[in-house]
Amino acid sequence: MTTKTSHRQQLLGKVRNLMHANRREHDGHIYTVPSPDTYPYQWLWDSCYHAIILRHFDAETAKEELRSLFVRQYDNGMLPHMIYWEPSEKHNINWGKDGVSSITQPPMVALAVQQVLDVDDDRQFLTDLFPKLADYYDYLLKHRVDSKVGLAGIINPDESGEDNSPRFDPALGLDTKQSLPQNFAARLELVEADRNASFDLDRMKQTFWVYDVPFNSILFENLQIMAEFAAILGRSSESRRFARAAEQLLEAINQRLLPEDSGDYWPIDGVNSKELNCLSWHIFAPLATGVMTDKQAHSLIHRRLINNDEFMVKYGLRTVAESDSSYDPEGFWRGPVWIGVNWWLVRGLSRYGYHELAHDVTVASLKLLEKSGFREYFNSETGEGLGAREFTWGGLVLDMIETRDGSEELRVL
Ligand code: GLC
Repeated sequence: MTTKTSHRQQLLGKVRNLMHANRREHDGHIYTVPSPDTYPYQWLWDSCYHAIILRHFDAETAKEELRSLFVRQYDNGMLPHMIYWEPSEKHNINWGKDGVSSITQPPMVALAVQQVLDVDDDRQFLTDLFPKLADYYDYLLKHRVDSKVGLAGIINPDESGEDNSPRFDPALGLDTKQSLPQNFAARLELVEADRNASFDLDRMKQTFWVYDVPFNSILFENLQIMAEFAAILGRSSESRRFARAAEQLLEAINQRLLPEDSGDYWPIDGVNSKELNCLSWHIFAPLATGVMTDKQAHSLIHRRLINNDEFMVKYGLRTVAESDSSYDPEGFWRGPVWIGVNWWLVRGLSRYGYHELAHDVTVASLKLLEKSGFREYFNSETGEGLGAREFTWGGLVLDMIETRDGSEELRVL
């Protein structure tokens, strides 16, 4: 066996073992917990990442993971960000509803389905899932996309997947100097307010309503994928409808989230129509999802990555730029490196042809795994592993390598 092959086998073996150890079954539904100790339930975007990892060695389980997400879909189409299949004492936070949460997470499930279909062209799987997928995206289009603004809003920072990101501090009424428990309390207060508002969206929107950059960018790419799915299934009017929704969303993103004097996209606090100007990794989300033109991508990459070290570190991308006053290398979503974010960046760089940089970020992610193992997030200055253990997202490194024929990356180990 060559060294390269054995490195690949080793990585594959480690990821396979981790995913297997974290797999759970309940009433015939299969899902994977992000971390057995810290996160022993099912999370929406985590399951999308899981399917993207699993497809490299077990497409059947990848499909199960995605199917189980839809078992607790709301009647109105929403997918909850958490499903408590087997409630326990651990991390048992009341997110507003019985057995599920009352909020959603970044809408990347169509992308996850597409990635699985790329390796396993299972038409029946798509046929079965499509109506449920359509219900979810229609929910977002009908209820979350503001008809006047044209953008999707989120009702809690946790819907971004970046729980305590400083992007949301002003919208939560918090100062930059704050503790994680303080931030968490503010997010749970929102859930309480939502419950008091009987989850009526018009009322919930008065407390917290942010047009976020990653959420809208991800929605844009996923609507395009929905148009492709509908076309594959011969549902041509639905295909046109999703394609048009994607176009309209792109127009709104460019019109409203990209101020004229800035090359970067910024979220807006919809409660008071104010731009949220924390310099976080969100500026790369439009790159990752194909929102940008080649020219914009070139400018972003040169301004923020090549000629600038505020984001890029030895271990990948800081989630918040070093130059931002909220930056904290150990602060959960306030600066540390997350492999999920590195994965989005690698997608974006590869999409626009920056293969060398994509290679560097992949190597950086591999090195993190080597140094600190499958941890939740990493000190952006030292690479020290932090947060949950046996955390699944590290498996995304396998996807970075496999989808880009990363034998070069493996050679460096
Ligand atoms: C944390 C992360 C969130 C993730 C969840 C489960 O709350 O911030 O993105 O979905 O853990 O892993």
